[in-house]
Amino acid sequence: MSDNYFQQTLSEPRNDFDSSLRPPDFDEFSGQDKIKERLMLMVEAAKMRDDVLHHVLLCGPPGLGKTTLANIIANAVGAKLHTSSGPQIEKAGDLAGLLTNLEEGDVLFIDEIHRLHPSIEEYLYPAMEDFKIDIIIDQGPNARSIELQLPRFTLVGATTRQGMLTAPLRSRFGLVNRLDYYTAEQLAGIVTRSAGILGVEIEPGGALEVGRRSRGTPRIANSLLRWARDFAQVRADGTITAKVADQALGMIDIDADGIDEMDKRILETVIHKFEGGPVGLRSVAVAVGEDASTLEEVNEPYLIMQGFLARTPRGRVALPAAYTKIGVEPPRRVLGDQPELL
Ligand SMILES: Nc1ncnc2c1ncn2[C@@H]1O[C@H](COP(=O)(O)OP(=O)(O)OP(=O)(O)O)[C@@H](O)[C@H]1O
Ligand SMILES: [Mg+2]
Repeated sequence: MSDNYFQQTLSEPRNDFDSSLRPPDFDEFSGQDKIKERLMLMVEAAKMRDDVLHHVLLCGPPGLGKTTLANIIANAVGAKLHTSSGPQIEKAGDLAGLLTNLEEGDVLFIDEIHRLHPSIEEYLYPAMEDFKIDIIIDQGPNARSIELQLPRFTLVGATTRQGMLTAPLRSRFGLVNRLDYYTAEQLAGIVTRSAGILGVEIEPGGALEVGRRSRGTPRIANSLLRWARDFAQVRADGTITAKVADQALGMIDIDADGIDEMDKRILETVIHKFEGGPVGLRSVAVAVGEDASTLEEVNEPYLIMQGFLARTPRGRVALPAAYTKIGVEPPRRVLGDQPELL
């Protein structure tokens, strides 16, 4: 098992397990109430006017339900969903191919939209605004561009890195939604629903234990449920009780706060090698042997949210809870000093 369990779970290729547990409509999608309400309103308005939906941007850490929502949006308006991603669209021609394949009202989902090449991004603007693109035909001295009218469509963009999205692209979306981490109770609800689909016996206490240790993330909750199911089958009578969940997750080194080995190594590094910080993310990444972008997307947001780390203008700083977590006394200066938060 990888020592960065969460990173592994979040970057695994999507499989049947993932899609069988994916809620098909707004009713079964729990949490993110504000976003759901806005999207449902938008869908209703578009239906009343017999219009296409505005373009929608979904931002947030991996595994919170961006792809799921894109599917739900398309289902809700009865539209066909076409899926692509920033890195897959290498040339303007790739994008033109996607756009000219659309039919009136279709939804085009572009995942990792922050990774679109700038020249391709520019090409997308007139498509989003006026449903038009310019295509270049012929080559050399005969090359000329012709304007092509597209069917009206809805673009749903998803990104894990909102900060890397250019302002012009961002401003072309009718609605920008930032998904939040889920509460332990919401995750317990998701786990209970998933257990029902998988035919696994789980007690409310077991679902809550899994929910609490899933770092606010439904994909992790489902993955931990799968592990707890195996554990319950072999080491217990098949039912996931609170105690069984606790033992199962302990066995893969996920502690009661949902902290894994890589998280601990990060905290130890900041505290022992860099005297508690401030230290740049890159230096931490090199010291723990992990990709800086993985730390930034997967580990750091959770460590910050849980109050173990703070991001300051001069770098990352370990907070008192980090010292307690790794079993050392927080130095005086850490207890007294309130870091200047960004
Ligand atoms: N609100 C929810 N209710 C129930 N299940 C959910 C919810 N959100 C996500 N899930 C479950 O979590 C899994 C991961 O969600 P999804 O693939 O939509 O995340 P994502 O935000 O697109 O992640 P990534 O950035 O890695 O692409 C889904 O397969 C689904 O089963
Ligand atoms: Mg996704």
